[in-house]
Amino acid sequence: MSNKPNNIHPIFDRLLQREDREKQLDQKSLVLWLTGLSGSGKSTIAQELERRLYNEGFFAQVLDGDNIRSGINNNLGFSLEDREENIRRIAEISKLYVNSGIITINSFVSPTIKIRSQARDIIGEENFIEIYINTPLEICEKRDVKGLYQKARKGEIKGFTGIDSPYEPPVNPDVNVHTENLSVTESANIIYEYIFAKIRHNRE
Ligand code: ADX
Repeated sequence: MSNKPNNIHPIFDRLLQREDREKQLDQKSLVLWLTGLSGSGKSTIAQELERRLYNEGFFAQVLDGDNIRSGINNNLGFSLEDREENIRRIAEISKLYVNSGIITINSFVSPTIKIRSQARDIIGEENFIEIYINTPLEICEKRDVKGLYQKARKGEIKGFTGIDSPYEPPVNPDVNVHTENLSVTESANIIYEYIFAKIRHNRE
């Protein structure tokens, strides 16, 4: 006699699949993972890319360091341990998004190779595009949009990425955006052109 319970009725054939949602949205979903120093331009490029995708009829959503950290991750700081937990939760959220057919644009410092590889493992290699927003530290520091580098140099912020906390650049990113001599639109276009063939569904 089998131990198999007889009151389990699998409903997989009735569940909507990712493919169904992708078909409805006429796109393939992906996670676009932007990594780079604070002030490198990640958020601005992410927003520009989101707008471009929207204008082209794609359904995309930005997840961003400052807004995630003021909401779901407001109990986390900037120790390496907390950054790992920050990125782990974001990766889990992105996985839900990607399974809903949505193109997710993630804009997080995500400073170490280990952190990004954990995110990739959660999300799945085939869904994960690593994009390095490659802006030299000197430029980020010179811009200092939020005044945080100055504070970090004065010791008013401890463990600031690039100053007294590590940033490990991606070794072999899918896209390496050298922002130095590019406008925001040009940077977003480089990413758009790389992903277009991957996100188009049945489009010409
Ligand atoms: S991550 O390292 O965990 O990926 P995340 O992208 O969420 O970082 O947040 C980075 C943003 O938090 C920065 O753009 C900056 O505005 C702010 N911030 C505050 N303290 C720090 C710090 N010690 N290191 C880096 N960024 C910090």
